[in-house]
Formats: sequence, structure tokens, C-alpha cells
Amino acid sequence: MEFEKLQHAAAHSQPPDVSMAKLTKDRQQTTHRLTRALLLSVVFLTFIWALGNGVPFSSQQQSKGPDVAKVQQCAIDNFHSDLSFLDPAVPIKADEFLERRDRLARALVASGVDAFVLEPGYTFQYYGNISQVDWEPWEPEERPFLMLVLPQTLETGEVVAKTAFLAPHFEEGRVRMLGIPSRDGAELDIVVWEEHWDPYATLMESHLFKQKKTTKEDGEEATHAPPKLMMDEEIRDFIARGLAATGFETVGLSPEAELVRQIKSPAEVELLRAVNTGTVMAVRAMRPCLVPGLTEDEVRDVLDAALLSVGFGLFFDIVLFEEHGALPHGGVRYWGDEADGGEHGDNPIVDHLPRAHYLGYSSDICRSFFIDPPKQQSSWLDRLNSFLPSCMGSSLFRRNDGTDLSSSSSPELRAEKFKVWDIVLEAQSAAAAAFMPNHTAAGVDIAARTIIEEAGYGYGFTHRLGHGIGIKAHESPYLNKWNKKVLLQPGMTFTNEPGIYLEGKFGVRHEDIYLVKEEGEAELLTGRRATGPYDP
Ligand SMILES: *[C@@H]1O[C@H](CO)[C@@H](O)[C@H](O)[C@H]1NC(C)=O
Ligand SMILES: *[C@@H]1O[C@H](CO)[C@@H](O)[C@H](O)[C@H]1NC(C)=O
Repeated sequence: MEFEKLQHAAAHSQPPDVSMAKLTKDRQQTTHRLTRALLLSVVFLTFIWALGNGVPFSSQQQSKGPDVAKVQQCAIDNFHSDLSFLDPAVPIKADEFLERRDRLARALVASGVDAFVLEPGYTFQYYGNISQVDWEPWEPEERPFLMLVLPQTLETGEVVAKTAFLAPHFEEGRVRMLGIPSRDGAELDIVVWEEHWDPYATLMESHLFKQKKTTKEDGEEATHAPPKLMMDEEIRDFIARGLAATGFETVGLSPEAELVRQIKSPAEVELLRAVNTGTVMAVRAMRPCLVPGLTEDEVRDVLDAALLSVGFGLFFDIVLFEEHGALPHGGVRYWGDEADGGEHGDNPIVDHLPRAHYLGYSSDICRSFFIDPPKQQSSWLDRLNSFLPSCMGSSLFRRNDGTDLSSSSSPELRAEKFKVWDIVLEAQSAAAAAFMPNHTAAGVDIAARTIIEEAGYGYGFTHRLGHGIGIKAHESPYLNKWNKKVLLQPGMTFTNEPGIYLEGKFGVRHEDIYLVKEEGEAELLTGRRATGPYDP
């Protein structure tokens, strides 16, 4: 927040000569503006950073600029007019965590592995409902606390998961209090180590792996294959090396193990639908409330507050006007450094890429849109008057660096924005049609890319089409044109986010979420797609 204030102050302390020149120029432009139909177009890219960025308007009660608090209230009121999207979303039940571990156990047997090893993090959240912060609210520390999932074959031949833990002795009580879902409320099986012991050797000597040591007739210990452990992708390197140095064989994720989390349960699908539909609806609710003079950060704060108001957690949200949208992930903190005096046109595109969490699941959407032109000139004048005179030297939209977005743009640029908007939507439709079981991950990317290339903008589609989504915004499988080995399967959920980024001009991205079905077309999990530049 401090940094933002500084940036804000810097934006308003230009040398007087610059201000005078700008004022004169802006007066002419304002006259010109009032005689034209004012079509404001906006492209937003929003990244939700952190809860800390939340409450937006307290520092904005200054004479300059629009009434952000009013915009804020308008967005929240619109958003709250229909919150039925939240209804089908319920927290994941304890049984589902056990089922996930059983599915993992079967994948481990298929992969010829003795145990899966993971630390608190996203994967632990998936299998045991504990995130990294749940375990260590302070910071990740050096003492390993591990979950181990070991396949067990029952007499019936059924494979189920045995879950065990490795924890420092003094933390044992805290581990039991975490409430990790376990079978029939059974005691957790925890291997403990003292502070002066080697945790990995303790694990090797524990009951979990001891039975692997067979004894020869003559009493000599047999040579046996070392226990084989599959390392979760998030496990820290010193732990993997510690296990290997103690004699465990360590291997990476197998496709079978990855598939467990890639295929979403009906409960997960409803959570993804709720958080992604809600995030889109928040953008849609906010758009008609936007008024000239808002900065990128103010628009982001308005959206963040709307998302927080329904219990969503924020994690990465950014709003970008015009050519700032030509960087797919923005540049976030760099633009304020250098004033850019370019011409920005009165059809600024706004890219808006907000992300949120709800009950542990992630949204990842993007909307590129224009804001509505004023309904009639008189109401426009009223609105303009309401924030004069400060607005005189300002603009319809202000960047965070204070630069103007309202000088007239060429009709060619305006036409190109509309054209590109349509091409990206067409590319998104082509990809949506390719989300079929047994199609390759590459095929979906290629479907969208072909449309964009044929329209002559292949150079502007600089990233992959999308990725899996679940607890994390970015999960495997990844949709890029090289990933020909991975086949789509029913229950997988993906982002579909083609974009065209034209450096120095603007960028357009449309991003929605899809569920691959048993047969037929993929199901949209974002309520509805954008239908036009004025209807995101
Ligand atoms: C999972 O953890 C959350 C808190 O992080 C808790 O509210 C919820 O009840 C837990 N779920 C189960 C099934 O224990
Ligand atoms: C996908 O491929 C699998 C394995 O070849 C097959 O059993 C299944 O029927 C296919 N599904 C569809 C929808 O084509």
C-alpha cells in the first residue's frame, strides 16, 4: 500500500511546464472529445496478489479522480443481485480424501512403487486437507514433516491406501490436532524422530519399511531392492536428497499418479464452477460501474473487494489498459517508473485477469472489454462536472503512472481492436470444440492456434492455449502444441485462454474453464462466455 501511495504521489507531481502544456493540450482534446461519441473500450488483465491489497478506497478520498467508493458499492450491489452460483459448491467431504488416497495407492501399484511421499502444500491439501500454511503459518522450515501413502492389498485383492507420517517427536501432538481425514477416525500412524536423530534413517528403520528386509537361511541379511519412493513434485530438494542418501530409491511422478489429481470428482467440478463463474460474474457486475478517471489499480481494488465480499480469497489479480495488455502477465510494478507520453485513443481496451480461491479451489479467467459510452451528452457532462476540475488535466482513464488514455485514436486502431477481439473468440470456440476424450493436449492448442495464424496474427499468440485447473490455478496437463502424448480424459478441467498481444498497441485474451465429458462437447464451467466487446 505504501508503495502505491508513493507511486500515486509521483504521478501527480510533474514539473509545472509539463503540466501547463498537458493542460492546454487536454483542453483541446476535451472539446474534441465532447463532440464525439465517446466509446471507451477497455481490456483488463487482473492478478490477485493477496488479501493485503483488499480494502481499496480509503486512500483515494482526494479531490482528484472519481469516487472510487461509489464505484465499489455499485459493483458489489450488482454482484450481490444473484449469488446462486455459490449454492452447489460444498466443501470436500472426509470420505473423498480417503478415496483420493485409495486411487493413488492403485496408481502406485501400477507404477511399481512402495510409497508416495509429500510435504504440506497443494498436493497434501489434495490428499490430506493440509496446506503449507496450515502446517507452518510462519515459514517453511527445515524439519521434515512428511505424509507417506503406501499401497496395501486386502485379502479380497482390493488395493487401498495405508497413510503414515514422519514427524518431529515434539510436533506429534500438533500433527494429531490437524484433523487430517483418516479411516474410521483411526489413530494416525506417525513415525517420530528426535531432534538429534537422522529423520530419514529413522524412517528407513521404522515398521513401514523394515518388513522389506528379508533374512537369508544362514541368518545373514539378504540383499534386497531398496524401498522405492515416488517424490511429489513439490517436495523440497534437501528432503529428496536426504531420502536418497539413506538408501531409498527415489523416482519422480508417474503419469498414473498424475492422473489421480487431473481427473476431478463431481464435488470438485462444482467448486470450480462456483469460483470461476463467480469471478466472471464479478467482472461483469463491475463493468457498468466504471467511470472515467479510474486507474488500473483502482479497478483492480474494486474487483478484489467484490470478490472478498462473497468469501472468495484473492491471490493474483491485475488490470491493464491498452498497450499494457500486450504483456500477457502484465509488468505489474514497472510502468510507474517512466512516464509514457504516447497517444492512447478513446477506445482503450481493458484486460482483466482476476483469480480467486473458494473452499480451496481456484479460478483463472480473463475478460477483455470496452466500457459503455455515456448514454447521452448531458449525462456525460454531469458526470464530467462531478469530478472537475481535477479531471481537466487528467483523463478518462488514468494509468497508475498518470498517463492519459483519452487522446483520440485512429479509426484503424479502433477497428483492429474489434477485429482482434473477434478472432480470439473464434480461436477459443475452435479449442472448445476440441476438448474431446482421447484428443491430445496438443490438438486443443493447435485448433486455436490455426485460427489465429490463418488470420495473420500467429506472431501475437505468444503462450500456450491453457492448462489444467483445480486446487492450483495451473495444474497438469498443459495444453501446448508439443504435448502430443497426453490424451484428454473425462473429468479433466482446463483453461481455454487464447490471446493476441500486439506490442505498443493492446492485447486481447478470452479465458474460460472447460470440463471434458464422457462424450460430446466439453462443459463450460464459467457460466457463459463473452459475447461481445461490450458484453464480457
Ligand atoms: C478441511 O480443512 C478445512 C479448513 O482448512 C476445514 O474447514 C474442513 O472441515 C476440513 N475438511 C475435512 C473433511 O476435514
Ligand atoms: C478412448 O480411448 C480408450 C482407450 O483406447 C477407449 O477405451 C475409449 O472408448 C475411448 N473413448 C472415446 C470417447 O473415444
